[in-house]
Amino acid sequence: MKRDIDVYTTLLSLSEDEVRGKTVIVIDVLRASSTIITAMHRGARSVIAVEDMGEASRIAQNLDPTRRLLCGERDGKLIEGYDLGNSPSEYTDELVADKTLIFTTTNGTKAIARSSLADRVIIAGFLNADAVADAVKQAEGEVIMVCAGWKGRLSLEDVLCAGYIVNSFYDGQLPETAKDGAKVAMGLFERFSDRLYEVVAATNHAKRLQEMGYAEDIGYCCALNTVNIVPEVVEGVIKI
Ligand code: MLT
Repeated sequence: MKRDIDVYTTLLSLSEDEVRGKTVIVIDVLRASSTIITAMHRGARSVIAVEDMGEASRIAQNLDPTRRLLCGERDGKLIEGYDLGNSPSEYTDELVADKTLIFTTTNGTKAIARSSLADRVIIAGFLNADAVADAVKQAEGEVIMVCAGWKGRLSLEDVLCAGYIVNSFYDGQLPETAKDGAKVAMGLFERFSDRLYEVVAATNHAKRLQEMGYAEDIGYCCALNTVNIVPEVVEGVIKI
């Protein structure tokens, strides 16, 4: 019998202790997860995801400056003095290959930090959704998905991605034992799956990104299963 998978639709609903002994899948479609997946796919050595800029600076000072990049955003914008922002388009092979990326974002890296007591932490987006679903089908213990959202509020694009993974995890058939979070996420995904891009492009955060000139990131982050990797936090560092 298949194990169940649950969905936390916002970060506020998750306590750090709750993740102990579990596999946590962190989703921030726009855009932290999608950027991490892209960076790893384009050859980054690893990503060190941290919650705040102070910690990012401390880590950066202890690494060889020729082999690391300081990356991330606040409120979607590049942080002064940082090498890269949070648009996946910035993470080219030339820039990131073999580099350690120190990465801090408004919500996504908070969700990763909040999950640090879990047995396993996996980074997911639409880009690698099937690869993640396949990986967790084999996982031991409980699996939960954590949607990063925006400053404590729900982000529809994250819940839709969770719904896609629930659907894939259960091969399209929700069991009677399915948790409420999984039912909500899968229900929303089924409702909107035939016009995913259109629905994501109309979300709150997509509108913020469009206003900041990042409209192209939305289509990129909505593309399903373009990347067949499963980035995972190993001893505090994201690797594949
Ligand atoms: C976040 O972590 O809040 C996001 O990735 C914000 C963004 O789109 O840059």
